[in-house]
Amino acid sequence: MSQEIELIVKFSIVDDELVIEWYDGKESRVYAHWLRDHCQMPTSINTNNGQRLFSVVDIPEETYIEKAYKDEKGNVCVLFQPENHLSVFSQSWLRKNCYDLNLHFDDRSERQKKLWQKDTFEAGLPFVDFESMCNDESGKLDMLRLIRDVGFVVLENVPTKEGQVLKVISELGYTRETNYGALFEVRTEVNPNNLAYTNMGLRSHTDNPYRDPVPTVQLLHCLESSTEGGDSVLVDGFKAATVLRQESKEDFDILTSTWINFRFSDAKTDLRSRVPMIELNDNNEIVKVRYNNRSIDTIKLPTNKIRHFYKAYRHWSEIIERDDLKIIFKLSEGDLMLLDNTRIMHARTAFSKKGKRYLQGAYTDLDGLYSLLNILENRKK
Ligand SMILES: [Fe+2]
Repeated sequence: MSQEIELIVKFSIVDDELVIEWYDGKESRVYAHWLRDHCQMPTSINTNNGQRLFSVVDIPEETYIEKAYKDEKGNVCVLFQPENHLSVFSQSWLRKNCYDLNLHFDDRSERQKKLWQKDTFEAGLPFVDFESMCNDESGKLDMLRLIRDVGFVVLENVPTKEGQVLKVISELGYTRETNYGALFEVRTEVNPNNLAYTNMGLRSHTDNPYRDPVPTVQLLHCLESSTEGGDSVLVDGFKAATVLRQESKEDFDILTSTWINFRFSDAKTDLRSRVPMIELNDNNEIVKVRYNNRSIDTIKLPTNKIRHFYKAYRHWSEIIERDDLKIIFKLSEGDLMLLDNTRIMHARTAFSKKGKRYLQGAYTDLDGLYSLLNILENRKK
């Protein structure tokens, strides 16, 4: 380890903690078991991939810090007993990783997002050019950041030939195949198994809440569009959920704590899930929403909960339909929309039987997209 700048002014052992005084006046209290568990020595982690070589139960329960000192390079050396195990930490590692000064990683929560409503996009929707996304790293980065931050993006000038949804996915991650196939056709059908394949309007929804896990990114590519109507509608589901929380904490709490069933079935498929409409993380931050009036299964709740649930469900549905939360636009031929299906609700208006409306859709997952985003952002550092 190389010589480092002095980040630590002083440290001492107090009971089962290493107490660190930092250069900027901050203080960290680091628990002995945590420190031993995060040992960076080659006996504790594989230094090529950083993966841990032991389990927490391999650390003696009675672990304590016998002594701690700086070596000549400024690294912090900690001697643990009863193992007589010496760990050496760089000051910068300790500062970057100590749990009281660094927030946990979470790229999914409402806190990490730019929530939006209708007037957010007065200057225009987030468009990215297809060629620049395919051929230019910064085009790809722009697009991935938009998906992370605002939850959707429209790629324009995508060739109007079949299968382009899969080409776009291959640039970003992996196709999530379902019973609809690797890709699905959205056009009117006789006796469709899903109302999506009619000319009816569809209210705002997230796709496939009956799957567990749910596909987390949806793509829709417009190949033909000559009907009257058939406009696309988007709502930021995280924003809608925060409005619900502001207007009635009680209604919000019911929807986050009540799990309900969703179902899709046809001759060959019977998919079922049990999930909340609004999902929180351990900090009570919104991380996922699900809403689909077509595929909600029979609602079965304890008798004393049903009235409260319906009040909250109605309130949530009414917020989702508010005009000031919706953006409405028409996908043109060659436009391809990517949505974070854990956050953004989509709808379409009814369309005429005259003319053609033909879209192809497919699913991929956020983990692949975020992985690529992390790699591209790391390269820029
Ligand atoms: Fe849909």
